[in-house]
Amino acid sequence: MSAPAEDTLIVVKPDGVRRGLVGQILGRFEAKGFVVKRLQMLTMSKAKAEEFYNVHKGKPFFGELVTFITSGPVVGAVLSGRDAVATVRRMVGATRSWEAAAGTIRGDYGLGYTDNIIHASDSVESFTHEQAAFFGKTRG
Ligand code: CMP
Repeated sequence: MSAPAEDTLIVVKPDGVRRGLVGQILGRFEAKGFVVKRLQMLTMSKAKAEEFYNVHKGKPFFGELVTFITSGPVVGAVLSGRDAVATVRRMVGATRSWEAAAGTIRGDYGLGYTDNIIHASDSVESFTHEQAAFFGKTRG
């Protein structure tokens, strides 16, 4: 039995956008077989960033995380395909980029922690929350 199709969200962070990695990153997911269902570049306001990352509120790195994610444009994409949440997380790699396996996005492109190139939802529940926080109420 193959896994059912589901949706997940990735956000190419300001370091990934500044370094011109958007095309390569989206290309990896498309080459794997995921379909890009929504795509938007925007610069997050502080309020949007705090809502997006609300599970981390109160943690010692929260301030740094919000400052970083609002420091420039980001690109959010909803990706659809089999077992998307887990499969995309495997392709993204470990949070500490210097520990991420070769062949993963963080493993191949970065050394950072806060600046770890890309965010991906870690569960279906997180996806629902993050999609609403990132795109807001409007569909377009
Ligand atoms: P991300 O997948 O976007 O989810 C939360 C982010 O917080 C994480 O990637 C890291 O970029 C950042 N971060 C910074 N410090 C820490 C930390 N000590 N533990 C977890 N995440 C951290």
